[in-house]
Amino acid sequence: MSFCDSSKVILYCLVFTLLTLNECQMVGCNQRRYCERLGSIEGILHSLSLTTSQLVDLAANNIKELKDVDSCTRNRCSTLPQDCSNLLNNGHHQSGIYEVWPRFLNESVFVWCDMQHSGGGWTVIQRRGDYGNDPLLFYKPWNDYKQGFGNISEEFWLGNDNIFALTNQDSMELVIYLENFEGGKRYAMYSNFLVRSEREMYRMSYENYEGNAGDAMDVHNHKNFSTFDHDNDLKNSEPSCAEKYKAGWWFAVCHKANLNGPYERGLHEPTGRGVNWEPWMGLHYSLKSVEMKIRPKK
Ligand SMILES: *[C@@H]1O[C@H](CO)[C@@H](O)[C@H](O)[C@H]1NC(C)=O
Ligand SMILES: *[C@@H]1O[C@H](CO)[C@@H](O)[C@H](O)[C@H]1NC(C)=O
Ligand SMILES: *[C@@H]1O[C@H](CO)[C@@H](O)[C@H](O)[C@H]1NC(C)=O
Repeated sequence: MSFCDSSKVILYCLVFTLLTLNECQMVGCNQRRYCERLGSIEGILHSLSLTTSQLVDLAANNIKELKDVDSCTRNRCSTLPQDCSNLLNNGHHQSGIYEVWPRFLNESVFVWCDMQHSGGGWTVIQRRGDYGNDPLLFYKPWNDYKQGFGNISEEFWLGNDNIFALTNQDSMELVIYLENFEGGKRYAMYSNFLVRSEREMYRMSYENYEGNAGDAMDVHNHKNFSTFDHDNDLKNSEPSCAEKYKAGWWFAVCHKANLNGPYERGLHEPTGRGVNWEPWMGLHYSLKSVEMKIRPKK
């Protein structure tokens, strides 16, 4: 009995995850596991509308094939949680570490779920805080940002491949919580937060800002991700933004938010080389804690 025909899985993989053919053929070998994670046609179409127009054309030609994949997954596949909002809906109300199966990933990921804040169901993609780590813990190369690093219970970056997968399976809102050393708290909330694949340099975009922290992400909207060993910023001189501000981020020329910057505990020099959020505390104040978390738009 055919489960999911492997050519369809490979097609799906090529169209939606922007992996190379080689990588997709490997997924094909593992098609059963992969099919279990494909999700519904509504979800597929939804993420389609969020991806590039080139991708939309490609996929439009193959929509029938996708419907076949969908009927396969709909009929036979279990409903593994794709993110923390699924877990919340399945009755998990305790914040902590959970295993999720993002639709565009070949494997599961351990994530921190915030099940309390404003309704819960948040998948945390980044956290900074006072955990006694090296201030330069987040000064890491491309591959570390790709895969993720840190301790999921403390400070961490979830990994650009994981963030890509999570933000492409649904239309996501991003909320950023910020706290200073004087007990002040602010937030910034963004709709349709999307991170593209590695092939597209993990380019980030969002639609609307709402909050009381000020929109420090505006200069970072539609920017590619940069690390010290992968300079994709818009600054034309040396050193690159990532090198100068000691972080991996969606740098422009260079930043108004440097949430992966050095952990400097309040006032610092030089300008911009801290955990900064310019519209609130400026570029000489490194925040006490930060959390970036995502949830499908209700
Ligand atoms: C998918 O997972 C299988 C086995 O777990 C592995 O052999 C394969 O390389 C993975 N494919 C990709 C594209 O990561
Ligand atoms: C991660 O942090 C938790 C909580 O502080 C700690 O119990 C655990 O040992 C840490 N894990 C690693 C691998 O360091
Ligand atoms: C991002 O990278 C792509 C190449 O993948 C390039 O075409 C585009 O111009 C870059 N965008 C910015 C804002 O640097």
